[in-house]
Amino acid sequence: MSLSAKGQGNCQGLFGKVAGRTEDVANEALSRTLLVYTQTKRYFSHWKDLSLGSAPVRKHRGTVMGGVLDVIGKIDDLNAGLLTLSELHAFMLRVDPVYFKIFNHNMLVTLAMMFPDDFTPEVHVATDTFLAQLALALSEKYG
Ligand code: HEM
Repeated sequence: MSLSAKGQGNCQGLFGKVAGRTEDVANEALSRTLLVYTQTKRYFSHWKDLSLGSAPVRKHRGTVMGGVLDVIGKIDDLNAGLLTLSELHAFMLRVDPVYFKIFNHNMLVTLAMMFPDDFTPEVHVATDTFLAQLALALSEKYG
C-alpha cells in the first residue's frame, strides 16, 4: 500500500513534531526494542553497555533517528534513498529483516505515547504505512 498525498501530509506533520524531540523518541523506541525483544541485543553485542540510557544506546538513538528523519524527506523514492543503508544492514550487519517490523512497532508505541493528541487514527495509519515502506526499502537488498 502506498501513501496518498494526504497520508504523506499526515505523516510528515507528525514527524515535523518529532524533529523537536528526536533524542527522546529514539531513546524510547530503541530502548523498548532492546528491552522487550531481547533477541535484538545480539546485533549490539559489541557495545559495552546495553542498558537504558547507556552511552552506546544514547549515541545510536541519534543515528537511527537521523536515518528515519532523513528518509521522511525521500518519501517519494524510498528504495533509492535507502540503498546504502539496506546494503549495510543486509551484507555487513546481517540484521534479520523481521526486526525492522519489530522496531517499527516500538516506534509506533513511542509516538502514540509521546504525541497522544497528534496520534489520531488517520495519522496512525499513515505512519504505519510509511514505516512499513521504510522496512520494505531497508529489506530491498536482502533478496
Ligand atoms: C527504521 C529502521 C532502521 C534505520 C532507519 C536504521 C538506521 C541505521 C543507521 C543510519 C545506522 C548507522 C549507519 C552507519 O554507521 O553508516 C545503523 C546502524 C546499525 N543498525 Fe540500523 N536502522 C534501523 C533498524 C535496525 C534494526 C531493527 C536493527 C537490529 C535489530 C539494526 C541494527 C543496526 C546495527 C547493529 C548497526 C551498527 C551499530 C554500531 O555498531 O554502532 N538497525 N542503522
